[in-house]
Amino acid sequence: MIPRAPKGTDDVLPPESERWRSVLRAFDGIAERFGYGLVITPLFEATELFARGVGADTEVVEKQMYTFDDKGGRSVTLRPEATASVIRAYLQSGTQGVFKGAYSGPMFRYEQPQAGRRRQFHQVGVEYIGEPSPLADVEVIEVGFRLLEAVGISDAAVLLNSIGDPADREAYRVLLAEYLSDRAEELSPEARRRIDANPLRVLDSKADAAVVAGAPVPADHLSSAAAEHIAAVREGLDGIGIPHRGEPRLVRGLDYYNRTVFEYESASYQAAQASLGGGGRYDPLAAMLGGPEVPAVGLAMGVDRIVLAMPPIDTPPALDVFVVVAEEERRSTAISLVRALRAAGLRVDLDLGGKSMKAQFRMADRRRAGAVAVVGAEWDSGQVTMRDLRSGTESLVEGQEVASWIAGH
Ligand code: HAM
Repeated sequence: MIPRAPKGTDDVLPPESERWRSVLRAFDGIAERFGYGLVITPLFEATELFARGVGADTEVVEKQMYTFDDKGGRSVTLRPEATASVIRAYLQSGTQGVFKGAYSGPMFRYEQPQAGRRRQFHQVGVEYIGEPSPLADVEVIEVGFRLLEAVGISDAAVLLNSIGDPADREAYRVLLAEYLSDRAEELSPEARRRIDANPLRVLDSKADAAVVAGAPVPADHLSSAAAEHIAAVREGLDGIGIPHRGEPRLVRGLDYYNRTVFEYESASYQAAQASLGGGGRYDPLAAMLGGPEVPAVGLAMGVDRIVLAMPPIDTPPALDVFVVVAEEERRSTAISLVRALRAAGLRVDLDLGGKSMKAQFRMADRRRAGAVAVVGAEWDSGQVTMRDLRSGTESLVEGQEVASWIAGH
């Protein structure tokens, strides 16, 4: 039997991969325009990084990590997300002050797979490190919104909440735990178990929605500094016309957040409890990893989900021209022509296997070429026959004019 890709993972092949390419390219362009430099960190890290950074009693760390001992007996984990790694890299490199980084790559979580929920999935994200201003939160939220807009998801809106600072959260946690204890017999066993350890996680438990509906919410228990911060974020988003709405029960599943948390929603992606992207401010993370206090805010967008949600894209031909060799003795001429066209920046290919003319034309179709250039007897007078594969029209074109003929079609 031929081996299959592991459960919850995907092969992405053409032409589907063109949708991926358009998302990744749009992200690259936006990240560059907003001044985020490319960051590449390892796909695996010491397990401790995630246990400390993401939080030992989060769903991600408790249940979803791909953790194993390497041959040297070190516990390593395939990264379930990249924020902890980026902050680690910032601290490890001794960088100080403002640092804006962008990343793109696979993340790994042992999930129950379904459409848009994969065990290997691809995130693009940005981290704005070293800046406490709420304007940084606004900018990061804008990056995600512009990405969705750029790929044609035009109805995206931001769900926004503040979970306050650690001290606010501690006071709120006590209140919430009291509320939940009073209703313990109405809660699921999982929620009951969490009352003491991490009651905030009950807030996004679907099984406990009825009890949660009446629970106190973090936004009603903010310090004045945290309240001012989220008000400034809202005002900033209004100022640039990014639609947002308060979602008092949005707490997010990772432990490093404080103040602003957000996710993106769109009618084009309505899977249960699943968002196209999300992020927030995470001022506590650097210190959780043993570093100094470093304010930071960031986001990650789920490319698998964006690809599912985006409208069909108008896929242009994958090749500008497919060069057909009419007679075997013309092959070296054809290869020279291909080389010259590629050097001129065109996307060009040919058959290297000596196929018949008919088979080469079929190949041109399958490879989704926009045009075919036939190198045959007409080359004796320096010409090729160009066929526009969409209209079917043919014309004789000078060898040197092929690039400009294509540009004009
Ligand atoms: P997250 O909410 O865990 O945040 O993931 C961000 C996005 O990744 C989700 O909104 C979703 O689109 C996508 N995603 C997550 N899990 C899966 C999965 N199993 N299959 C497909 N897509 C998935 C973070 O990862 C934080 N690091 C975001 C952040 C950056 N916060 C601050 N900076």
